[in-house]
Amino acid sequence: MSAFRIRQSRPNDIPAFDSLYSAAFPDEDLLPLVRQLLGQDSGILSLVAEAEAALAGHILFTSCGISGSDTSAALLAPLAVAPDWQRQGIGTGLIREGLTQLRSAGISQVYVLGDPAYYRRSGFKTGTGVAPPYPLPEQWRDAWQSLSLGSIPSPAEGRLLLPEPWLQPALWSP
Ligand SMILES: CC(C)(COP(=O)(O)OP(=O)(O)OC[C@H]1O[C@@H](n2cnc3c(N)ncnc32)[C@H](O)[C@@H]1OP(=O)(O)O)[C@@H](O)C(=O)NCCC(=O)NCCS
Repeated sequence: MSAFRIRQSRPNDIPAFDSLYSAAFPDEDLLPLVRQLLGQDSGILSLVAEAEAALAGHILFTSCGISGSDTSAALLAPLAVAPDWQRQGIGTGLIREGLTQLRSAGISQVYVLGDPAYYRRSGFKTGTGVAPPYPLPEQWRDAWQSLSLGSIPSPAEGRLLLPEPWLQPALWSP
């Protein structure tokens, strides 16, 4: 475990996101999405991890609704940790701090599309009846996960209602 500090991101972190995202996601360009989300007026929780004065990790949560329900929800994505800083607890720390802040803000459900082997360590479970904005390919079925922050379970059905930057089918397919 390394020493790292988690704080809200600031506008002057954005240049450092370029190298963080290209190193963490060499085959994907998530920066346009990240920039669009950070440009939203509200509904975004953006946290960074600093280690040795470098930007070692970043996580975004987007507030969203669920069709047919008044449940307040958030989507976790993306999460990026610089390769030199991986496996030192930073990803887990960013998730944990984000969930703490979302719980305080009254969010009751969090959804993520990612490797269940990783996210189950933070309490996410597969099998939610709430659908992502676009149908997922069969091989990603188990990657769609949810976590309840309070005592209210995830609604049995519905669809995640996300802001416009997320409404790109390419973000939801391999
Ligand atoms: C996935 C990622 C965020 C994990 O961050 P991290 O800071 O390295 O993770 P942590 O240190 O909190 O946890 C590390 C543990 O998770 C495990 N782990 C990491 N990625 C995993 C995966 N895809 N599946 C299963 N376990 C995984 C590690 O083996 C390690 O286990 P150990 O503690 O038993 O050794 C980081 O590796 C990363 O940014 N990867 C590239 C981008 C990416 O895939 N982001 C996630 C998008 S959904």
